[in-house]
Amino acid sequence: MTNHLALATQKLENKGFLDIEVDPTLDLIAEIEKLKKEKNAVLLAHYYQDSEIQDIADYIGDSLGLSQRAAKTDADIIVFAGVHFMAETAKMLSPKKKVLLPDLKAGCSLADSCPPHLFRKFKEKYPDHVVVSYINCTAELKTLTDICCTSTNAVQIIESIPKEQPIIFAPDFNLGTYLKKKTGRENMVLWNGSCMVHEIFSHEKITKLMLRHPEAELIAHPECEAVLLEKAHFIGSTTGLLNYTKRSNSSTFIVATEDGIIHQMKKASPHKTFISAPPNNTCACNECPHMKRNTIEKLYLCMKYELPEITLPQWVIEQGVASINKMLEVSAKAGLLAG
Ligand code: 13P
Ligand code: SF4
Repeated sequence: MTNHLALATQKLENKGFLDIEVDPTLDLIAEIEKLKKEKNAVLLAHYYQDSEIQDIADYIGDSLGLSQRAAKTDADIIVFAGVHFMAETAKMLSPKKKVLLPDLKAGCSLADSCPPHLFRKFKEKYPDHVVVSYINCTAELKTLTDICCTSTNAVQIIESIPKEQPIIFAPDFNLGTYLKKKTGRENMVLWNGSCMVHEIFSHEKITKLMLRHPEAELIAHPECEAVLLEKAHFIGSTTGLLNYTKRSNSSTFIVATEDGIIHQMKKASPHKTFISAPPNNTCACNECPHMKRNTIEKLYLCMKYELPEITLPQWVIEQGVASINKMLEVSAKAGLLAG
């Protein structure tokens, strides 16, 4: 190992993020494209990534689409421009492949809101319940889960379970509340977790914005609070929201989800107007700080040094992957392909 690589490895492992200086004269986009080819690497990016990362990704998608793509790819390396639980999902689906995440600290407040040791105790109180977990949870939580779901397929997953079968839904309380309403399932116990981005929207400011723009449609992700979802013209996953803006006759949308998705909405409908739903304070809280930890520089370094790598204990992969595969089976049957 060269000294530079040894130093890079040490920094990556010790700090979990990169502070190695990148030559400012380098054309990083061209370098990343070159590394992709040299290493037979595929770059997956979630819609909440910075637009420059989205623009060089081989595949941009929501959690379902990214899981499907990760399962199918024949690349040697999966570079995941997203957050930790997404890269873990890719590793569980492709245990023999090297999975890289540009910044190991790119976590998720929702996944963190459901620590597996506490969930295990919670689950013990409901021994006859089936556990459905939103894919935004840790790999270890997936080992305690019967079937996963994403925001795209959550309704179908719940409906695939017999009506009389009681369910525990974790970790997102808002999505769980939405699912109870949408499917009419009363026998669903909810874990009280939340996403820091989707719970921050100001209902008061959004109401004022809707009065100022009566022509606009409010579109919202189901991780938002129930009071906001009640006002929404359309509720859907990131892909669902994007597709809705393409087919709707409306020319203006108030978008209640993370800001990154607006990049694809503008690209698909350049003549339409997209207004970010305002948070209840003055910071840019509708940007996910975890997603935004990934930068083009970190992406370049991660591909160059093949670090930080996502590794999981074998038992976690074996016990956790069943819940993801079960979800993929139900989605495939329902024809829910990424789109
Ligand atoms: P989807 O892209 O599946 O809608 O999920 C949103 C999200 O919060 C990802 O972190
Ligand atoms: Fe997690 Fe919310 Fe960020 Fe998605 S937007 S990664 S749910 S904190």
